[in-house]
Amino acid sequence: MPSYLVTGASRGIGLSLVVELLRNPTNYVIATARNPAGSQGLQDLFREYPPDRLSLVAMEVSDKASVDSATKAVEELVRAHSGGLDCVINNAAIALQAYRGFEDLDLDLAEEEFRVNTLGPLRVTRAFLPLIRKGQEKKVVLVTSDQASLELAPGLHGILASYALTKAAMNMMGRKWGVSLRAEGITVLLLHPGWVETDMGSPLDKWIYENAPSLELIATNTSAAGCVRVIRDARLEDTSVWTSVDTYDCPYPSRTVWQLQDPQNFVIATARNLSKARALQELEGRYAPNRLALAALEVTDKASVDHAVGKAEELLRPHGSGLDCLINNAGVSLQENDRFEDIDLDQLVEEFRVNTVSPLRVSRAFLPLIRRGQDKKIAFMSSRQASIELAPGFSGVAEPYGVTKAALNMIGRKWGASLRAEGITAVLLHPEPGLTRSSLGWVDTDMGETTEAWMRVHMPGLKRLPVGVSAEGCIRIIKEARLEDAVQFLGIDGKPLPW
Ligand SMILES: NC(=O)c1ccc[n+]([C@@H]2O[C@H](COP(=O)([O-])OP(=O)(O)OC[C@H]3O[C@@H](n4cnc5c(N)ncnc54)[C@H](OP(=O)(O)O)[C@@H]3O)[C@@H](O)[C@H]2O)c1
Repeated sequence: MPSYLVTGASRGIGLSLVVELLRNPTNYVIATARNPAGSQGLQDLFREYPPDRLSLVAMEVSDKASVDSATKAVEELVRAHSGGLDCVINNAAIALQAYRGFEDLDLDLAEEEFRVNTLGPLRVTRAFLPLIRKGQEKKVVLVTSDQASLELAPGLHGILASYALTKAAMNMMGRKWGVSLRAEGITVLLLHPGWVETDMGSPLDKWIYENAPSLELIATNTSAAGCVRVIRDARLEDTSVWTSVDTYDCPYPSRTVWQLQDPQNFVIATARNLSKARALQELEGRYAPNRLALAALEVTDKASVDHAVGKAEELLRPHGSGLDCLINNAGVSLQENDRFEDIDLDQLVEEFRVNTVSPLRVSRAFLPLIRRGQDKKIAFMSSRQASIELAPGFSGVAEPYGVTKAALNMIGRKWGASLRAEGITAVLLHPEPGLTRSSLGWVDTDMGETTEAWMRVHMPGLKRLPVGVSAEGCIRIIKEARLEDAVQFLGIDGKPLPW
């Protein structure tokens, strides 16, 4: 008897998935919800179906204790069946600020959305993996959204900003983790259920009628019937496609070029702890104050960001008052070689805070200054690891980092579309050459070093790229970025990377 577990089954698509799965008399369904007793729909089904067809289990996907206790309860339940679980459907999600643009997002709420929509499926899938391994079908479904598509993002600006980036991050997890799970016979499916008439879907009508009038709002049972069909037919080979990559031939002279080398430029260099940034202090001694100024900036801290903006305002006054270009470079990669099964989720939240939320916080705070600048550019330092297309080829390395950078790309690509309308060019940069068969390398920094072990095994012969070469390329790309091309995701050779 195939067994299915559905998260967030109290209402909406989750509840309809349970109804649809129960229509097949051979299925056993475990419907989970934060509070099953509070769901009229689940209670009605519970009365209608016997215990060997339907069980209800409490599970809050963002809470470790709740997921652990649900896992134990499910272990007990499936013991009476086959002992394993055939399919876990990660459906639970929240969209708390559908109509807030990137400038106005409440970042605490965005973090909550990340905890439920991105970490939730990771936590749940990880917890149930031992049971899935014992199941027959071995399927993991991630209910995603067209809003998660980095390809479609520019056409979807003005709606679901924070939700979109949490779902793009989840897609990265599915696509990348899918490779190693496929190797052990587990099918991972990313499934968009359509635009569906639910508490989440219905309030989007205003935007959809104005911007995508041909889109049809479908009933939850229509969506669920389609989803169940797709899940049933999904084959292991559909999980992810392995992309082959090989070595990088450096096309640039190996010399250190700083942005400061252009005598026209005035640079404000920021660091969270200036007293420890010896190289910056040295540069400060070499350049006149009208060429370089240092400012303390801890990107995760609102007070520090506000203070840095105030300082930049003062510093820029003699230079014409506006900021021409903001480069969001700060980032962390805390768990380079940990697999999705082992990642520390609190550290993942920290990486999300630094790599995803902070570039938004900083860009938003500096926006008034950028609006007064001449060039009006915002660069986001992304990574090839952010490409959902390429993700299967990087399975096993920098998994959490890739998740947070995919979400950053969503900010750049989606917000970039509305920034473009007011003359601001956003660009997403991979600080190495883009994608050609012979164009892969990694930049020789503390962060690059930690990936070396993985690279040596999976891409032997890969060359390190001197940091100066990378910086020169980045500056050139930022300089050349044009409003009409925005938003692009480019390597330092000007080649676009796949989203
Ligand atoms: N509706 C659409 O047009 C649409 C389009 C694309 C993708 N999706 C995706 O489809 C899935 C279902 O969406 P929906 O439209 O059915 O949304 P919905 O009507 O708002 O239902 C969301 C469900 O998720 C549950 N949930 C939220 N946070 C949870 C948590 N922390 N732990 C456990 N359960 C939690 C809710 O439970 P409570 O009742 O306890 O709050 C509810 O059962 C989501 O993944 C969504 O992103 C929907």
